[in-house]
Amino acid sequence: MPIVTLHKNGSTYRDEVKPSTNLVVRAGIKQFPYPNLAYQCGMGKCATCACKVLAGAEHLPPPNWKEKKQLGERLEQGYRLLCQLWLEHDIELLQEPAAAAA
Ligand code: FES
Repeated sequence: MPIVTLHKNGSTYRDEVKPSTNLVVRAGIKQFPYPNLAYQCGMGKCATCACKVLAGAEHLPPPNWKEKKQLGERLEQGYRLLCQLWLEHDIELLQEPAAAAA
């Protein structure tokens, strides 16, 4: 089972999830990584769920067109849209606070 590690606001959250888990869907039903994951649309349109992949990026599929459109050059820095990913392997993520909250 994939182990998800999320770094957010200086804290680290870790839990095991079922294979093919979408973290935005899980947060939507108030399971880990709720309430520590920021997201909005769940459809690849807002980029609120963007996270930098610190480890495990090699197991992810190539970015889809929504990720390319929303993330642009941030893709090369390792960012992905969590609402567009169904996880099959361990992954370590960093979600930076929204600029408005900083
Ligand atoms: S939640 Fe809006 S792009 Fe992922």
